[in-house]
Amino acid sequence: MKRRSLIKAGAAATAVAVAGFLFAWSGLFNIGASTGHWAITAWFLHFAMRNSVETHAMGIEAPALDDPALVLKGAGHYAHGCAPCHGTPGRAANPVVREMTPQPPHLVGQIEHWAPEELFWIVKHGVKFTAMPAWPARDRDDEVWAMTAFLLRLRELSPAEYHVLREAGTERPGSSPLEAPDEQPYTYSCRACGAELFRSATKFDSHCGWPSFWSPLAGDRVILREDRSLGAVRVEVLCATCDSHLGHVFSGEGYGTPTDDRYCINSISLTFEEEPAS
Ligand code: HEC
Repeated sequence: MKRRSLIKAGAAATAVAVAGFLFAWSGLFNIGASTGHWAITAWFLHFAMRNSVETHAMGIEAPALDDPALVLKGAGHYAHGCAPCHGTPGRAANPVVREMTPQPPHLVGQIEHWAPEELFWIVKHGVKFTAMPAWPARDRDDEVWAMTAFLLRLRELSPAEYHVLREAGTERPGSSPLEAPDEQPYTYSCRACGAELFRSATKFDSHCGWPSFWSPLAGDRVILREDRSLGAVRVEVLCATCDSHLGHVFSGEGYGTPTDDRYCINSISLTFEEEPAS
């Protein structure tokens, strides 16, 4: 009797396999991405993915992930490697990407569904049967952790902050109260990594629409780089510690400051606090 049911089960399995093969052979299966997945297929694939990630992430232990420099390193990789498919804070992925099956999700709302170790595993290994790629440098777990650190912060980054820091955008002129002269001495630091960059002592009122300084705290706090965007040659100012975009520097405008330089800085790139008494 037992043997009989085994044979029956075997025959049924073979029949299903043959039917599956014939269905594939007939070409009736619609492979087009345009029709999307049936709801049940999508559910099944996500069910399999969630369980697989949970199981494979077992035994991984996350290091400390709140170091701002780590977050910024991840952000740099994100802008190049992930934003085209997953979009950025404030911008959806391009319309062609949105026609993929499955569609790469806008990640801002997704992150909370995963533990840091699971995000690490997904980013390191990618996801089969979707276009989610594995991390190209298989032995660079440090880079994958940096990406994980950034993903965990993705929600907190406003679209304007992401645009200025990572895409060298410029905030609207006159949009910042920081442009006005300081009522008391402040120290200004990089919003991304916290490195001290400027002090009130070198800030002046240029009426140009952005906070202006005639010198950074020390020359090595910032990097200057030629910028040929917008059809003009300008000099871009970046944070020397974490490479975030800060603004531009202009020279020889006759403002009568000691250097005759104007570091024109996006206030979004800065945080400030009262200067320590010296
Ligand atoms: C070619 C497009 C593409 C690129 C590039 C890409 N992804 Fe994905 N990603 C996908 C697709 C497709 C999925 C699976 C969507 C699904 O589960 O239905 C996915 C899923 C994910 C998920 C799981 C989201 C969830 O909850 O389902 C994370 C996290 C993720 N990607 C992060 C990244 C990161 C970080 C990068 C950059 C290193 C990246 N992806 C690059 C297409 C892409």
